[in-house]
Amino acid sequence: MANESLSKAKEAKNDEFYTQYHDIEKEISAYLEYNPDVFRGKTVLLPCDDPEWSNFTKYFAQNFEKFGLKRLISTSYAPESKRYKFGYQPSLFETEAPHFDADKSKTHGKIFVLDHDVTGDGKINVEDLQWQYLEGDGDFRSAEICKLRDQADFIITNPPFSLFREFLAWIVEADKQFVIIGNKNCITYKEVFPLIKDNKLWSGRTEWSGGMWFETKNNEDVDKVIDGMNMKNVPSIWITDIDHGRRHQPIPLMSMADNLKFSKHKDIRGQEAYIHYENYDAIEVPFTDSIPSDYDGIMGVPVSFLDKYCPEQFEIVGMCENEDLYKLKTKIYSSEECKQAYIDKFGKKGTYDLNASGVIIRNGLREKVYQRILIRKKQ
Ligand SMILES: C[S@@+](CC[C@H](N)C(=O)[O-])C[C@H]1O[C@@H](n2cnc3c(N)ncnc32)[C@H](O)[C@@H]1O
Repeated sequence: MANESLSKAKEAKNDEFYTQYHDIEKEISAYLEYNPDVFRGKTVLLPCDDPEWSNFTKYFAQNFEKFGLKRLISTSYAPESKRYKFGYQPSLFETEAPHFDADKSKTHGKIFVLDHDVTGDGKINVEDLQWQYLEGDGDFRSAEICKLRDQADFIITNPPFSLFREFLAWIVEADKQFVIIGNKNCITYKEVFPLIKDNKLWSGRTEWSGGMWFETKNNEDVDKVIDGMNMKNVPSIWITDIDHGRRHQPIPLMSMADNLKFSKHKDIRGQEAYIHYENYDAIEVPFTDSIPSDYDGIMGVPVSFLDKYCPEQFEIVGMCENEDLYKLKTKIYSSEECKQAYIDKFGKKGTYDLNASGVIIRNGLREKVYQRILIRKKQ
């Protein structure tokens, strides 16, 4: 199989990951802790879900009254439209329903709605969910699902990984509040980073380290089996525009002098000073916990800083990238300089794409650093 087809096959499989109940609970609890009425009187839409077994639907339906929700809507994508087919069988729940339709079961999405006590037991909970086949396949881009989006206050889901950019744009264009899961790299996408910079979206409560564990339907790509469930670890994070307490906790930091004397990182401890980039008026800070608390200039920090970012403590001024979107570069390298830097560093012919990142000079040689976010201390 050609490389391209291989990666397409991998990508296709990668859309079918199911979020664990306790991960949803941990994340959503943080918004409620910050504002217990955050969902009161609101409509929550859970698109790209599989409501019969989704933990998102279960969690929000179980807590419908506690959260004071007005309406919960959950929609699924038709099995035949899914890029990765895994031997679909309708559930007993579906086949036993009077309106079960064997054809629609494969080609149509489903909608589950919860907004009143159907069973008459005096409670509104998971037992009161009512379902129908959708008119179409449940594609979030369809007019049918866009209409549901427009009626909702919150969009919450783990969207298909392969359509992440489109999914976020779909939320942003409708100006809805949201909590979604994305890959860690999504932070640097040109559709995402400007929103982070402007504090229009941020990292959720769950820490980034360790990635997230999802149930996977792909038996060939399993990291471990827990209670008979195939689980896969993915470097995923929650992103949101709902406020939570953790993002207002400043990072505890040492002064520059103390970092140079006592840092646990050998790249910092014992050095005379932090290294200044050659192509930005900023210093290179290779670890978030080495950010000097008393430096007033611009600092290049790892992308994982965003896991700890507190907007009262720092402002984000840009990112080291090729396009210089934020007009922060102080030097653009010529192609000759890029070629020479490669020969100097690797001892053979090539091109070192110096303009794509921050560049430091170490032992007399130009060196690119990892992807960096540029930040400045709030005055
Ligand atoms: C990462 S899974 C997450 C499922 C569920 N939300 C959860 O977290 O457990 C994404 C789901 O979106 C579905 N999907 C893929 N493309 C879609 C589309 N264009 N519109 C709606 N759903 C889609 C996939 O089939 C898959 O079921």
